[in-house]
Amino acid sequence: MKYLSKNEYEAQIASTRDARMKRWREAKFGMFIHFGLYSVLGRHEWAQVEENFPPEEYARLADSFCPKPGAPREWAKLAKAAGMKYMVMTTRHHEGFSLWDSKVNEFNSVNYGPHRDIVREFVDACREQGLGIGFYSSLMDWHNPDAFEAATDLAARRRFLDYIQALNEELLTNYGKIDVLWYDVACPMDSAEGWESLQRNQYLRSLQPDIIINNRSRLDEDFGTPEEHINAEGRDWEACMTFNGLSWGYVNSESAVNYSYTPQRILNMLNTCVEGGGNLLLNVGPKADGSIPPEVVDPLTRVGKWLAENGEAVYGVPRQKKRVGGSGLTYESVNGNNVYLWNRVWSGCPEIGIGGYRNPPRRITLLATGEEIEFEDRGDRLILKGLPKENPDKNVGVPVFKMEFDSEPEYIFASRYPQLHGGDHLFKC
Ligand code: GLC
Repeated sequence: MKYLSKNEYEAQIASTRDARMKRWREAKFGMFIHFGLYSVLGRHEWAQVEENFPPEEYARLADSFCPKPGAPREWAKLAKAAGMKYMVMTTRHHEGFSLWDSKVNEFNSVNYGPHRDIVREFVDACREQGLGIGFYSSLMDWHNPDAFEAATDLAARRRFLDYIQALNEELLTNYGKIDVLWYDVACPMDSAEGWESLQRNQYLRSLQPDIIINNRSRLDEDFGTPEEHINAEGRDWEACMTFNGLSWGYVNSESAVNYSYTPQRILNMLNTCVEGGGNLLLNVGPKADGSIPPEVVDPLTRVGKWLAENGEAVYGVPRQKKRVGGSGLTYESVNGNNVYLWNRVWSGCPEIGIGGYRNPPRRITLLATGEEIEFEDRGDRLILKGLPKENPDKNVGVPVFKMEFDSEPEYIFASRYPQLHGGDHLFKC
């Protein structure tokens, strides 16, 4: 294969980016699945290193790794019910155990443990549910001895890079169309050259011309991956978040539940992503038997019900260009001439004010039902009237007002309070 230079390659992938990323950009919400031998231990996916396991002892965990048949289908059904549009699964985490029928890595789930191709089951389940398919693929490897030597021994590096390429080639050849290649932890080499990422990624793209690739092979590629924090980047980005701030791999549910996200806090994260033009990839770490940890089911299902009614405020919403406002208790999202106010707290007051709009909306409705909301335009103050005492969103408690304007909404924060002008530092992204 003839390889392009870095500049040529970056120009080429930039020219196809909008088309390749369209569906992903609209999706906004995906499920990360961390599943591997660490799921047996339930003590964090880095347990092998953190606890200094002898490799042979760690490898024996495969004997107890026995996902029940159909487990990936359960994950995909939950993702779909949660309103997520794609999934990314750890096909091989740092432990080096491949969850597919690999011909280049005998340490895999067909030779050991379940004796099944979990990647195949995952791919089939995503397709059944109409979800996009992402493969997480670790660059670091704690099982392959060449991976340790690769930093300093060039022969070992050659073997290891060929191995990494062959693993990804299998993944991107044998399972039909794959949407996302999600690399992780490019250690021990500390440069893209050391990883030959330019060449490997070009080759892998030749197998999957529409694929999108994250930024963890020491090249910028298609999107950034802020981890455990949500800060907008000046490019496409996806915040990956654990469900509990503790671990990506399964940990005891009774403890984890107290650290876990509520539906409201998931909506907060989603709003920050939507506003900043990013996606939210929220993690679930199934148990070794493949079952979903119970503490994630109710929050995700409720978020899904909310999205079924209020998805218009999320899916396909572009990065927000200008600040808009609502009340101190709302979050906002904007799409064209429509502003969505996410009422995170329902005060129960019959009237509330919304300040700062210079052009009044044509209509205000409750997004979930389409019910009109009466309002009065007092110049720079809208008064919403006749609001019910009871929170109209019985599910999550976050009802959304849709404000439809005839032209682009003109908003000035604190227009009556000039001492706050320039208050754009309060803009969340
Ligand atoms: C990390 C961790 C890892 C996790 C990943 C998810 O860098 O090494 O365990 O899979 O981030 O983003």
